[in-house]
Amino acid sequence: MTDPTTGKAPQTTPFRTFSVDGESRTDTTHRVQIVESITPIAGRSFIDIGACDGYEARALAVRGASRVVALEGKQVHWEQAVRAAEALGIPNHQAILGDLREIERYDLGSFDCVCCFGVLYHMSNPFNVLKRLAHVTEDLLLLETHIAPEPWTEAELLPKHQGALLHGTRTLYLDGARFEGRICIHRGEHAVSKGSLDENWTFWLTASSLAKALTRAGFSILEWHHELDAQTPDTIDKRGRELGLGYANTKILVVAKIDPARRQPITPGTVSSDAAGTMPPRIQETLLDRLYFNAARVRRRLRL
Ligand SMILES: C[S@@+](CC[C@H](N)C(=O)[O-])C[C@H]1O[C@@H](n2cnc3c(N)ncnc32)[C@H](O)[C@@H]1O
Repeated sequence: MTDPTTGKAPQTTPFRTFSVDGESRTDTTHRVQIVESITPIAGRSFIDIGACDGYEARALAVRGASRVVALEGKQVHWEQAVRAAEALGIPNHQAILGDLREIERYDLGSFDCVCCFGVLYHMSNPFNVLKRLAHVTEDLLLLETHIAPEPWTEAELLPKHQGALLHGTRTLYLDGARFEGRICIHRGEHAVSKGSLDENWTFWLTASSLAKALTRAGFSILEWHHELDAQTPDTIDKRGRELGLGYANTKILVVAKIDPARRQPITPGTVSSDAAGTMPPRIQETLLDRLYFNAARVRRRLRL
């Protein structure tokens, strides 16, 4: 991931510097202003899911959250989060090394606000993950993720997605329920990448399937920002553009509220090609996919 303000790779120091309104800041981020426009931060508890080096969690802690947990699955990023939090001296902050796909194992309790930024699309079973997140959400889920692009937006995709997303919308059964989406192939080295912990492919739900997954997991959708249009509040529009929310690159931001009575039981996730759960999904790159992948690689090299 690059710093959205500079387009460069993040610093190797434990802190990230963000240019927010022309000022270099390490205590706030572009997303904090989005979070603030949706919910107060001071006095509320937050968990940052897939926190990476924890910059978002630190910014929330510095802004007076009652408790912030940064949950990260990779040692290398988690260590950075721990070091940076120690250097800042923030007692309301805790960095946990753990797999979000089994979040209940860590006995973290529940949080006023669950922040799930840039990680749901790294899951092969996003429905199962949302069901689990419902159990740690007291009030709000803020979800930023990719959705499967409509076929007609193919040409607008970022080159990195053109190579990674397999052609065509697929139907998969997640925990026995039918969902539509696109398969994304993960080629990086798991241990050090900012991608999936160990999955070689993941499932990007279509917009309607994501809405179905959220609703069935027990959430009600309060806000949905995709195309940043006249209806999008100013803060989200401004910061969202800096963060790359918007149609061409397939990102969305959803605000959802939990209905505790609709939480689903936590079960091991299943992913299959049939409702009975007996046929494993067939993940196969076609010639066309290889062609897209190689073309995207060449374009990246030539910086086209
Ligand atoms: C693309 S980064 C997003 C980081 C940050 N939330 C942001 O939006 O800038 C995804 C992060 O999720 C972590 N991650 C991926 N799968 C995970 C899992 N199963 N459990 C915990 N963390 C995971 C990755 O290691 C990575 O740090």
